[in-house]
Amino acid sequence: MLVMKKLEEKISKLKQEFETALESAHSTEQLEQVRIAFLGRSGQITELVGTIKELSAEDKRIAGPLLNELKKESQENFDQILQLCELREAQAAENKKQWFDVTMSKPIHVRGTKHIYSQVIEQLEDIFISMGYDIADGPEVEKDYYNFKALNIPDDHPARDMHDTFWLDIPGMLLRTHTSTIQVHAMESRTLPLALFATGRCYRNEALDASHEFNFTQAECLFIDKDISIANLLATAKTFLQTLFEKKDLNIRVRPGYFPFVEPGLEIDMECPFCLHGCSTCKKTRWIELLGAGLVHPNVLRSSKIDPDYYSGFAFGMGIERLAMIRHGITDIRHFHASKLNFLNQF
Ligand code: DAH
Repeated sequence: MLVMKKLEEKISKLKQEFETALESAHSTEQLEQVRIAFLGRSGQITELVGTIKELSAEDKRIAGPLLNELKKESQENFDQILQLCELREAQAAENKKQWFDVTMSKPIHVRGTKHIYSQVIEQLEDIFISMGYDIADGPEVEKDYYNFKALNIPDDHPARDMHDTFWLDIPGMLLRTHTSTIQVHAMESRTLPLALFATGRCYRNEALDASHEFNFTQAECLFIDKDISIANLLATAKTFLQTLFEKKDLNIRVRPGYFPFVEPGLEIDMECPFCLHGCSTCKKTRWIELLGAGLVHPNVLRSSKIDPDYYSGFAFGMGIERLAMIRHGITDIRHFHASKLNFLNQF
């Protein structure tokens, strides 16, 4: 009798456990785990049913139907719940298919791109390297000597006013206002003849607007050898612009311009590469101002111990932002430093 009582207790406890396990299974996968644990070959219910062998003949008569029922009921219970769960899963899969929206946006992993500055600078460097030029560099914090004096702009020269210089607390030191400083460094440290191209950040204490930044970028070209004339300057500038704008017949025109470090000084304009009869980029004039240029002033050569009786050279400079703005139709120089992805990702 005691054996039977214990068995009945075991059966009811196991039933309870089985039900709890079924309730906490929420997928066919989880149900399969429950089946293995209770109804599998060495599952708890299967094992309990197996203990019938150990009972006396008399107990077997009573326990047999009880255990049979436990097994049958549990299996039926399980099958029913499994069926429901399979149905639910099939329905969910169907719903997913129905609501699959091919136009829905998915997270896009934003890939970095080269900054527009790097792209333009690399392109310019490629062109000058292909013409046999060397790439040069120079510091952004400069001595007055490199920014002004050695470039034929002595202390009392009115051209200093045009440069809106950021002076540093250290006397005679400043943030360079143009990349022409690199000409002086190159003439001091390299041997002649010289053919070099440089780019770099420059600083001027200017009010900001759509075309003025206090921190901007310039490019500079310098060529020094024997018998260099305006013809060399114009041919180089023209070839450079034709290559950059991929237009073999692009024309340039020349106007007089004043820069203390060149004599004569010139402004070089290029024919508008974007239109035939005038557009917003060329302000309907068909010409775009681009380069400050000239033949290197004899005083500049002398400052760097180059004899102007034997050597001559040309130089020209340009604003990188202005060039990029013209090429890509950018209307505000302040975009370059704003770090806005929707601007940067366009290039
Ligand atoms: N440094 C000048 C500026 O900042 C640009 C320039 C003009 C550069 C004439 C040159 C040059 O090399 O020959 O406005």
